[in-house]
Amino acid sequence: MAAEGDKLWGGRFVGSIDPIMEMFNSSVSYDKRMWSADVRGSQAYVKALEKAGLVSKSELEQIVTGLDQIHEEWSQGTFVLTKADEDIHTANERRLKELIGEPAGKLHTGRSRNDQVVTDMRLWLRESCSVLYLHLTRLIRTMVDRAAIEVDILFPGYTHMQRAQPIRWSHWILSHAVALCRDAERLGEIKKRINVLPLGSGAIAGNPLGIDRELLRKELKFDAVSLNSMDATSERDFIAEFLFWASLCTTHLSKMSEDLIIYSTKEFSFVSLSDSYSTGSSLMPQKKNPDSLELIRSKAGRVFGRCSGFLMTLKGLPSTYNKDLQEDKEAMFDVYDTICAVLQVASGVISTLQINKEAMEKALSPDMLATDIAYYLVRKGMPFRQAHGVSGKVVQLAETKGITLNKLSLEDLKCISPLFDSDVSKLWNYTNSVEQYTAAGGTAKSCVVAQVEQLRNWMKNHKDH
Ligand code: ARG
Repeated sequence: MAAEGDKLWGGRFVGSIDPIMEMFNSSVSYDKRMWSADVRGSQAYVKALEKAGLVSKSELEQIVTGLDQIHEEWSQGTFVLTKADEDIHTANERRLKELIGEPAGKLHTGRSRNDQVVTDMRLWLRESCSVLYLHLTRLIRTMVDRAAIEVDILFPGYTHMQRAQPIRWSHWILSHAVALCRDAERLGEIKKRINVLPLGSGAIAGNPLGIDRELLRKELKFDAVSLNSMDATSERDFIAEFLFWASLCTTHLSKMSEDLIIYSTKEFSFVSLSDSYSTGSSLMPQKKNPDSLELIRSKAGRVFGRCSGFLMTLKGLPSTYNKDLQEDKEAMFDVYDTICAVLQVASGVISTLQINKEAMEKALSPDMLATDIAYYLVRKGMPFRQAHGVSGKVVQLAETKGITLNKLSLEDLKCISPLFDSDVSKLWNYTNSVEQYTAAGGTAKSCVVAQVEQLRNWMKNHKDH
């Protein structure tokens, strides 16, 4: 049991804390990850205190040097936590007192852990978002490079998981890459709202001691200063946004994984995962399981769980800081770790994936050209609705005859519509089929190449955040 008086907030307390409560209340086991942000935040704060005349030049130097040493201890892994260290803020301040004595007591002047913790989180998340941005753009680059190389490979496009129309394999790859570009842009947008300084808001009412918040903003390289101290100490919109961002991004990757899992089955055999990203079965020697993709798919559920769980925590809270908000950190760290791993594994999977061109092309079947028959008739002047009906009749005739569409004779076709002519034979070619989709965004080669170019430009303009 912690002895009386060893808490930094212990002044008014007479009894000692129940050990189970002490554990329940403590966040240091996870918030210690913000040690660097906490030290930097304190170093900026003490400069503002000095400017306000609340600490002397020499006290400023002692505090900054002490904090430098604490930073060094953390980075060397020699910082020793004590049982009474409740969170990273109290741990660092306790250590500062051990290192420099009395002047340490001035550091927290006018500051509260309420504005301190949210400052630390914003600093930590801002830097972590840059790491995620890098992993995400690397993944996009991997996909775009692959799409550029494999642009000539055709395979079936599916809707409702039924064969729909022939498409380029690269068109499929890019369909997932563009979703990830939106995620990257979204990440850049939420970073603007993360990068707002709450320090100087105190516990709720603000700072009464003439702290220069503009100085703090510059020191800590925030873009803006929060507007309202009550809001600043308690709003966690930036966490909720981050959790939602990650939910959407993992959802995109889950969808892509699901496609690849299906494509990697023996039944499809379109792709085969590298051994580096698969595992075997302990019982069935023939199996190669796509565990990497299954885990990516599963993480979307985990991340969304964190997002919805945290929103539940927020929804019932009264104004300003409540200890419930301590829950924000495990959600933030867990989601960061999860998506950081997901992005890297996805890059690895995509860059090492083997494709089976023959199986992909073999899976194309003439029935997938039924729409092309309708377009053929439209080009001959028939209204689309009518052409759709005629094409349906062609499909029906082939079915009755027990043959594929391309085996119907010109006479057969002419009986259904006189518009059919000898040029109809050009329809029975999958390359011709994909090449007609020349409107921007389509699956014709020129369009897919244009998508590659556009995404490469996008990458140039979105190097970092
Ligand atoms: N560990 C706390 C948290 O994560 C720090 C803020 C504590 N504030 C307070 N008024 N008890 O939220």
